[in-house]
Amino acid sequence: MGQPQQPEGAEAQASATGTGTAATGASATRPPLRVGMVGYAFMGAAHSQGWRTAGRVFDLPLNPQLTAICGRDADAVRVAADRHGWASTETDWRALVERDDIDLVDICTPGDSHAEIALAALAAGKHVLCEKPLANTVAEAEAMVRAAEEAGARGQLAMVGFNYRRVPATALARRMVAEGRIGRLRHVRVTYLQDWLVDPEAPLTWRLRKELAGSGALGDLGAHIVDLAQYLTGERLAGVSALTETFVRRRPLPGGAALGLSAVAAEGTTGEVTVDDAAVFTGRFPSGALASFEATRYATGRKNALRIELNGERGSLAFDLERLNELSYHDGTEPGAHAGFRRILVTEPDHPYLDAWWPPGHGLGYEHTFVHQARDLVHAVAEGRRPEPSFADGLQVQRVLAAVEESAEKNSVYTPIAL
Ligand SMILES: NC(=O)c1ccc[n+]([C@@H]2O[C@H](COP(=O)([O-])OP(=O)(O)OC[C@H]3O[C@@H](n4cnc5c(N)ncnc54)[C@H](O)[C@@H]3O)[C@@H](O)[C@H]2O)c1
Repeated sequence: MGQPQQPEGAEAQASATGTGTAATGASATRPPLRVGMVGYAFMGAAHSQGWRTAGRVFDLPLNPQLTAICGRDADAVRVAADRHGWASTETDWRALVERDDIDLVDICTPGDSHAEIALAALAAGKHVLCEKPLANTVAEAEAMVRAAEEAGARGQLAMVGFNYRRVPATALARRMVAEGRIGRLRHVRVTYLQDWLVDPEAPLTWRLRKELAGSGALGDLGAHIVDLAQYLTGERLAGVSALTETFVRRRPLPGGAALGLSAVAAEGTTGEVTVDDAAVFTGRFPSGALASFEATRYATGRKNALRIELNGERGSLAFDLERLNELSYHDGTEPGAHAGFRRILVTEPDHPYLDAWWPPGHGLGYEHTFVHQARDLVHAVAEGRRPEPSFADGLQVQRVLAAVEESAEKNSVYTPIAL
């Protein structure tokens, strides 16, 4: 389907007039991939950025079109459509997934609706991208995997949004581990630290309610670091021993709209926090490597500190999301006199994803992970290739989260995870 031409930079104006999906230049001649997105707040904005930008930076085989965005409030979703460049709106996700002019449904809602939307979208013949964690329970995730496998036989694809695989530095770390640069793995040390709940008066947003979020810091942050650790090592955790804690058990109810990480507390009303505030666990990989994980929203001063270090027989790698253009590498085979950790500035054209971006040293940020996610999914769709991380990968992470909860309930008893 051809698209009208639109000058670069005219996107905001075009979206306001309902032509926000217009393609430019070469992309106009490529077949479209028509996206319908559910949810328009934090991840909705980030995914919009990804879909809008991917085809303008990368040479894609399909042209992503921001066809429809869905939210329950008609006025708010219209504002979001204008802001983020979507051509039309829906107020019921069921209507969105049934639309004939949608090829892919992108789920950016809290976990309580992931399974229902994904199952309906797959049944309606759509490809699906679903935010992490894949679901709120293992049973939901299993149903999603079954549906994705059936849909896969019909040529539909399903991917889960573990975007931290798509930081150039983490993708480079993966490549270096696979090349054997750190040798046999001994340790994996991962933390994901935030501090937005330190204030006990911060309101009870959906992330603090089990029926909406599934779990707390564990599903929100722990899911990311479990996936990243498994992706970098190429191994799946065999078992875990865990502690979880809820430090603040009652919080003020939100006074108005509670989206993303922000909300205003209502005066005088409180509700119960029904999820963990922090999760700390150790784990074992089949190779014999030991891992430690910490996920918390109470690490005062830490904003989005996802840090991972891998120690192998031949060397080590370390990454910090707050310095995401850098990867630390120690080559343990170098003579001790001048060996040591060195900083790789991951901005070279032969680093993952970077051939299409800026000259060396010009740096990327958080949002680019969503551009890379869109890029990779578009390629998978065009090539009929199963995308990674798949729903099966998401289910396996869900099993790790469930094992963490089970272990914590039993005072840290070592809990094996089905491989
Ligand atoms: N990949 C990441 O780095 C990352 C970061 C934050 C959140 N997430 C995940 O993204 C998902 C959404 O989180 P968020 O921070 O964007 O939340 P948010 O509160 O900012 O936005 C949620 C959106 O979903 C909409 N929504 C909720 N229920 C709905 C329903 N039944 N029908 C239609 N719309 C509905 C809300 O109106 C809102 O637009 C969660 O699964 C979360 O774990 C991932």
